[in-house]
Amino acid sequence: MIRILIADDIAENRYMLETLLKGNGYEVVAACNGSEALELARKTPPDLIVTDILMPVMDGFALCREWKADELLKQIPFVFYTATYTEPKDEEFALSLGAERFIVKPKKPEEIVELLHEILDDVHAGRLIPGEPSHKKEKDFLQDYNATLLRKLERKMGQLERSNEALKQEIVERKRIESELLYRNTILATQQEATLDGILIVGGEGRILSFNKRFLEMWGLPSDIITEKSDARMLQSALDKVADPGSFFDKVKYLYEHKDQTSRDVIELKDHRTFDRYSAPIIGDQGQYYGRVWYFRDITEQKKLEEQLRQAQKMEAIGALAGGVAHDFNNILSAIMGYACLLQMKTRPDDAVGDYIDQILAGTKRGAGLTKSLLAFGRKQPMALRPVNINDLIRGFQKMIGRLIGEDIEFTVACAEDSLIVESDAGQLEQVLMNLMTNARDAMPSGGKLTISTSTFTARTDQDEIEQGSYALIAVSDTGSGMDKETQEHIFEPFFTTKEVGKGTGLGLAMAYGIVKDHRGFIRVYSEPDKGTTFKIYLPLTSRPLPVSPKEDEMLLPAGSETILLVEDNANVRLVTGDLLREFGYTVLEAVDGEDAVRVFEENGDRVQLVLCDLVMPKKSGKEAVEEIRKKRPEMKAIFTSGYTAEIIARKGMLEDDINFLSKPVSMIDLIRKVREVLDS
Ligand SMILES: Nc1ncnc2c1ncn2[C@@H]1O[C@H](COP(=O)(O)OP(=O)(O)OP(=O)(O)O)[C@@H](O)[C@H]1O
Ligand SMILES: [Mg+2]
Repeated sequence: MIRILIADDIAENRYMLETLLKGNGYEVVAACNGSEALELARKTPPDLIVTDILMPVMDGFALCREWKADELLKQIPFVFYTATYTEPKDEEFALSLGAERFIVKPKKPEEIVELLHEILDDVHAGRLIPGEPSHKKEKDFLQDYNATLLRKLERKMGQLERSNEALKQEIVERKRIESELLYRNTILATQQEATLDGILIVGGEGRILSFNKRFLEMWGLPSDIITEKSDARMLQSALDKVADPGSFFDKVKYLYEHKDQTSRDVIELKDHRTFDRYSAPIIGDQGQYYGRVWYFRDITEQKKLEEQLRQAQKMEAIGALAGGVAHDFNNILSAIMGYACLLQMKTRPDDAVGDYIDQILAGTKRGAGLTKSLLAFGRKQPMALRPVNINDLIRGFQKMIGRLIGEDIEFTVACAEDSLIVESDAGQLEQVLMNLMTNARDAMPSGGKLTISTSTFTARTDQDEIEQGSYALIAVSDTGSGMDKETQEHIFEPFFTTKEVGKGTGLGLAMAYGIVKDHRGFIRVYSEPDKGTTFKIYLPLTSRPLPVSPKEDEMLLPAGSETILLVEDNANVRLVTGDLLREFGYTVLEAVDGEDAVRVFEENGDRVQLVLCDLVMPKKSGKEAVEEIRKKRPEMKAIFTSGYTAEIIARKGMLEDDINFLSKPVSMIDLIRKVREVLDS
């Protein structure tokens, strides 16, 4: 086999040529400089040598000079195969050293093979006369040699400088990209941490690529899972925590199988937290799949608030309905009550009819109680808010509780030391507490403990279920039967009761709810079956001082002879009230609405000493009518009645402290007393 020796200092060049020649059936030996080549050739002389010029230790020219001076080698064809920086002088010098050929790159590979083949053919056929070094003097040779090498080196230096410059540029560019990447990574890392969402990124082959602290917090994952970075184990740990592992697993599996899909799911956990989960694939610009990102958001609090809002809206709607019905019903009751009263007055004491009338009155009274609760719940009951010390109210109340709750129940009152002053309608608040007590008693048929305590409470938005602010907190606790969640959801609805027919109407808490709302307060329940129940009422504290309390009136019904203008749009109520007033000696002028009132006043104005007026009427409201009358007679006295004024009070601030107001259904006794009181004032 023909053996070719290659000398080149650049490994890639050697490799290329070696492969090419071997591919063409030659045996190839390679050296990385002149002296190595010489050594190899002397050991086993090749059939041809192909060499580069610039090489360390011994360059191509020096090698050629040694080669042609060596008796053993000088017959073997010597071929220079050199790259750039070549000019005619180089070739001239090479040939003067006795080289057979001087081939300049770049040549197509097959051309080189062809050329070498030719040379070898020529040798074989005796056509190639081996080159003879021209016998220059040593000094001339060295001069030529130096000059040639210098030229080549200068060119090579130039080339190196250029590539050096290019490299410098590249380094600058790389550094720029590097710092740009660093900057972006910092932004991404910060973005990943500065969020309330838990983030997990899983690679295409199911390994965890990254996650944030919040993610670990939310899922409470053990640290070995994190160091191990195995998605499978993490999934197992998550499955232990979710309420429905089956569907959780199916969905995750589905998403890993359907690489293009995004999804949004709500996940319930065993510990009653709720997560919103969003998942999307990570897709490269060429459409390649890199994995999947998972976002988790804890929406437990949000869901709770939504539920509360829904509940409040439901109550609002039921309240509007109940209040509306109760209002109409109230007018009917007023008429019945009024006529029953009149009947009673006209009946002789020994008449048996008197008993029936008492029954009617007792019935209407119960009816009035019911509508009152409904109106309170629907917040359509007029309220007279005055500063009240909650502690005084509860202490005063304590006395009558004993009788109400019976001896089996241990009753404790624990009031805060400071006074807790809130704007309250004391009578209504008493009703609320009364109902809570009654409920507690009913929940402890075989005894237990009942505690009322008061304290101040400061609510902060982020922690508490009520609006920010300072409150008086009244807590009513019992050790009774308690309630399950389902019951608790309904207790504030009107007519919801678990008591037997006749025992409860289910209006107690509905009314309490409405009254507390009207105090701009909150009522909350905490209960567990068989453990007991605590109701908490929060009422906003006020800085207004307590008023001086007025004296109780005597039990005598006073009559009179003045003229009263009665304004009432409901015919029944108007009739019965008119009759009642006349019964007590008054002269009554009637008007059917606000406008009519102004007209009647204009006709008979001089005689009128008091206007008894419904607040809400078509055309002109009671207040407007009285204002108009007072333009003519500023000192005109007035009493307002209404069963429908909660909103008006709230919106127009109509119920000032000094206004004379009676809420419907008006008790006859209250009316007669009030009329006298106002006329005398
Ligand atoms: N302290 C409590 N312990 C256990 N269950 C209670 C308690 N308070 C209220 N409940 C439940 O709430 C329901 C509604 O109470 P609410 O006061 O509104 O109506 P009621 O007491 O049934 O009837 P009413 O108060 O109109 O006489 C009760 O029937 C009972 O099931
Ligand atoms: Mg009750």
